[in-house]
Amino acid sequence: MRPGMLIAFEGIDGTGKSTQVPLLGGHLRGLGYDVVETREPTDGPHGRRIRELYRHRNQVTPAEELELFLLDRRQHVDECIQPALERGAIVLTDRYYFSTAAYQGAAGCDPAAIFARHDFAPEPDLVVLLTLSAAESVRRICSLRGETLNDFEQEEQLEKVAGLFASFRHNCIVRIHAALPVAEVHASIREAVCRRLVHKGLRCSG
Ligand code: TYD
Repeated sequence: MRPGMLIAFEGIDGTGKSTQVPLLGGHLRGLGYDVVETREPTDGPHGRRIRELYRHRNQVTPAEELELFLLDRRQHVDECIQPALERGAIVLTDRYYFSTAAYQGAAGCDPAAIFARHDFAPEPDLVVLLTLSAAESVRRICSLRGETLNDFEQEEQLEKVAGLFASFRHNCIVRIHAALPVAEVHASIREAVCRRLVHKGLRCSG
């Protein structure tokens, strides 16, 4: 068994991943763990190229888009995730390959083929899949964040993405309803993480 622990946060846009990752990170640091918080798309060259596409998605085909996410992930695994796991850290990643299977799957690529291309990527110990309806997600993005929808976030597209996330049956996935207040979602996440820590023979209280 590898020494560290990998926890991926997944879900459609607006589910609160970027709120929940630091909350869990702070909690785990308080227990004395070495925690690495990271995200995809990364801030590396491929991640930056992906961010440029947010508003001009039709510049690339779904297959080309998939290659960009794979390049970004390969670099993320090699330079960040794998070294952190090897030194025994708990890695929290805001998105991982389940996002590729769901988003690029919704764009027309085959989700099973996408999973099959991730043999280089360590399997997470836990995937926290935050669930929310596409309508609520759009409401949060537009009214709470005051943003307009980018090309990855159109409601019809998000419906398809949510449908694919709902279809994944991996044992590492725990589904948590994201419409509840932040503190309640955090408490459910802590409970799920605690179960995995205990399962690995690690501490989950101070
Ligand atoms: P997001 O988590 O919103 O990043 P940020 O808030 O840092 O800009 O992710 C950006 C978009 O990229 C999001 O709509 C989902 C999409 N995405 C994919 O389509 N495939 C992937 O593999 C990943 C990681 C993200």
